[in-house]
Amino acid sequence: MELTRRSIIEPFKIKMVEPLHLHSLEAREKFLKDAGYNLFLVPSQGVTFDFLTDSGTTAMSANQWGAMMVADESYAGSRSFQKFEAAVGEVTGYNYVIPTHQGRAAERLLFGLLVKPGDQVPSNNHFDTTRANIEQIGAQAVDLVIPEGRDPKSRHPFKGNIDLELLEEFCKKHRARIPIGMLTITNNTGGGQPVSFENIRGAAAIYRKYNIPFILDACRFAENAAFIRNRERGMSERSIRSIAREVFDTADGCMMSAKKDGMVNIGGFIALKKQDWVTDLRNNLILTEGFPTYGGLAARDLEALAVGLFEALNEDYLEYRLAVAKYMGDGLTDLGIPIVQPPGGHAVYIDAKAFLPHIPPSQFPGQALVVELYRREGVRSCEIGSVMFGRTESEKFVPAAMELVRLAFPRRVYTQSHFDYLLEGFELLAKEKQKCRGLQMTYSPPFLRHFTAQFKPANRRAVERKWVACAPEKSN
Ligand code: F0G
Repeated sequence: MELTRRSIIEPFKIKMVEPLHLHSLEAREKFLKDAGYNLFLVPSQGVTFDFLTDSGTTAMSANQWGAMMVADESYAGSRSFQKFEAAVGEVTGYNYVIPTHQGRAAERLLFGLLVKPGDQVPSNNHFDTTRANIEQIGAQAVDLVIPEGRDPKSRHPFKGNIDLELLEEFCKKHRARIPIGMLTITNNTGGGQPVSFENIRGAAAIYRKYNIPFILDACRFAENAAFIRNRERGMSERSIRSIAREVFDTADGCMMSAKKDGMVNIGGFIALKKQDWVTDLRNNLILTEGFPTYGGLAARDLEALAVGLFEALNEDYLEYRLAVAKYMGDGLTDLGIPIVQPPGGHAVYIDAKAFLPHIPPSQFPGQALVVELYRREGVRSCEIGSVMFGRTESEKFVPAAMELVRLAFPRRVYTQSHFDYLLEGFELLAKEKQKCRGLQMTYSPPFLRHFTAQFKPANRRAVERKWVACAPEKSN
């Protein structure tokens, strides 16, 4: 493909289409009001551009749909499982493959077997469900990302890297309490920032030195490998597939939410080099997920995944894929809309605190932006700020460290003209941002507040008092 052109070429033709739901401003305002200004509660027919997540939202290929039609739905020993097992084996090099219905089921199984109360599990950054699955056991999930990874303005090419000095110190100090060491590729926290091969190898060497099994959270392994090829010295002549394979070689195994770089709508797995934990994992799998040759999935899901893993590694696809977030990220930056730099693989994060300085954190600038993007453009995005992570301590509001809005891009779903259309809308929004109003929380559930909280446009003076009144610990 011609890299110097301005246009992204989507490396696919479209065989099957879905309508975009186009609504009037009034209709969107009604959807918003009915949903209590929480986009999780807006039905998808009300959404025009759904950037809530890149997880499970992939458009599958004709080859995947074709493979699904010939699936063998046998309860035990299905031919589709053999195909899936061979595909995972070929991509990762791992011998033992355990299917699960999605990533968090893999996490619960593996941590359930290995992690004990009081243990510590280091990583660059743990994803929310990874952290929750470690913490519910009574162990600690420890983030050791490099300082640049916490700085939205830093343009470090591998902001997902783990701090190797800190990791070495940490392993030395806590060796007896570390059942496994991890790395998340790409690092979802902070927007899909890549981890360099050098850093992965460095982390692997430290884990090996302290005899700690090394497990990758590999759900965006193909995007990570493409970043390594594009950005790391000495890698530009390598095939992305061989880079991905070498990354897997450094570790003892991986957990994978296949809803990302598996290019499927549901699915996941654990894959391991050695047999040590496999019998126990398979026994536990039968208890909660299903027989080891389907693990909570239909055989047709295994078929789609066996094809999807290779499609995710296709070089033209990956070039297009990384171009999408870059195009939107650069487009927003040109409009003066601050984002976490540089754009990652699957998402762009807008810094709502910097963009809307007139809205104080107690009035949720991230959520205010999420609401405004929907109201004006029909975009569904996700707040990662004080709605998600803010809390009350001694009746005082404690905001999150950052007020971000994530636009996560489904794979092979939207085209460049959709993004151009939206950038025109963003241009207007940037000019009229003063009109954007803060929000007041009117309902707060006891946990995982962002999914079901309700809001209304803020009344400036009442907001601090109202927050305390509806804080989780007060509400029940
Ligand atoms: N690990 C990472 C790095 C993830 O991003 C996710 C999911 C999971 C594990 C869990 O996988 O959803 O299949 O159970 N991330 C989605 C997101 C939900 O929107 O970023 P799952």
